[in-house]
Amino acid sequence: MVSRLMSWLDERLGLITAYNVVLDRRVPKVNWWFTLGSATLFVAILQGVTGIFLTNYYVPHPEQAYDSIQFIMNDVTFGWLIRGIHHWGATLMVILVFLHMLRTFIYGAYKYPREFTWITGVFLLLVTLGMGFTGYLLPWNQRAYWATTVATSIVETVPFIGPFLADVVRGGSELSTLTLVRFFSAHIWLLPAALISLIGVHIYLVIRLGISSIPKEDE
Ligand code: HEM
Repeated sequence: MVSRLMSWLDERLGLITAYNVVLDRRVPKVNWWFTLGSATLFVAILQGVTGIFLTNYYVPHPEQAYDSIQFIMNDVTFGWLIRGIHHWGATLMVILVFLHMLRTFIYGAYKYPREFTWITGVFLLLVTLGMGFTGYLLPWNQRAYWATTVATSIVETVPFIGPFLADVVRGGSELSTLTLVRFFSAHIWLLPAALISLIGVHIYLVIRLGISSIPKEDE
């Protein structure tokens, strides 16, 4: 019964071919350092899932943001756990992205024909850091407020366009409701959209080109 259903679906959707291409690939003999990309992907998905739960209670307004986080931590069932995973997951993701990048650099995996995998990776690194930067402000506590004040002042020092850029990021000359709303929007819409698209291209390239093998001494 199940196998008939599977072949009926496969005829129409090509599921077995997709499974073979994506999951049943031949890979060279590698080591644990080659698992860092998948580990990053796992944490990215975890961040997405826990983030969606958090948006059910978080309020992106200066008068309510801090209290809504307190509510999540103290009153929502398992809210402390979901927020804890999201909070530490952010740090872990940045560490994993850097280690994954270091691995591909040290093993020379950025060379022909994987230049584009590396380039999409560089953008993934920037977007991941952007997620951390925008997420940091959301609790709207003293640390978040002043860290973002300092960071946006640094943006001001960019030659020529600095003050303009800082105003766009903040939505004015100082941190306000608009800054919080802007950061929240970037954190849950703009940057995740970029992250999902880039991960799609990155993984497509990994599947298309196959994983690189460990370089030999004479290579
Ligand atoms: C959200 C961030 C990222 C995710 C989810 C991700 C995911 C992955 C996965 C699953 C693989 C295959 C397994 C592996 O080699 O570990 C891979 C390979 C690769 N990644 Fe990433 N990656 C990310 C960021 C980056 C960054 C920042 C760079 C470098 C700037 C990069 C460069 C590469 C390269 C060159 C490969 C090919 C490795 C090979 O064939 O040996 N990636 N990535």
